[in-house]
Amino acid sequence: MSQVSITVNGEPRTDDVEPRLLLVHYLRDVCGLRATNVGCDTTSCGACTVHVDGESVKSCTVLAVQADGADVTTVEGLAGAGGELHPVQAAFRAEHGLQCGFCTPGMVMAAAALLRENPNPSEAQVREGLEGNLCRCTGYHNIVRAVLAAASA
Ligand code: FES
Ligand code: FES
Repeated sequence: MSQVSITVNGEPRTDDVEPRLLLVHYLRDVCGLRATNVGCDTTSCGACTVHVDGESVKSCTVLAVQADGADVTTVEGLAGAGGELHPVQAAFRAEHGLQCGFCTPGMVMAAAALLRENPNPSEAQVREGLEGNLCRCTGYHNIVRAVLAAASA
């Protein structure tokens, strides 16, 4: 076992983990944060996207031990302290940017990171920025509309 100290959604914690444990399984099974989904386990779908030190990361591609000392945010940590939705979450709701919702946590996290880097993206930049996140339901149009709405909000 290896000891990791990771700040998850603002709360520092220390855990003993197997060195082979993926960050996504650490978040789901050790931290009990089940909103981060596993869609493919092979870096293809983006359902597992979280922020590591502010960067958008597919958490199935990272070992928990590699996040030692990092600040990790999952979609559970995105809303404000009073529970107010992050602008990207509010826009996904308003613009119907989800159907089954399986891709949504990862899509929201990727979009939030995208807008932090580029607060005023074009539609093409949104589509390019989210190309690592797959959605089987929506056809992407409402997702793109939601991200553009969040940008203008
Ligand atoms: S589960 Fe990580 S990219 Fe699909
Ligand atoms: S809403 Fe179903 S996969 Fe995106």
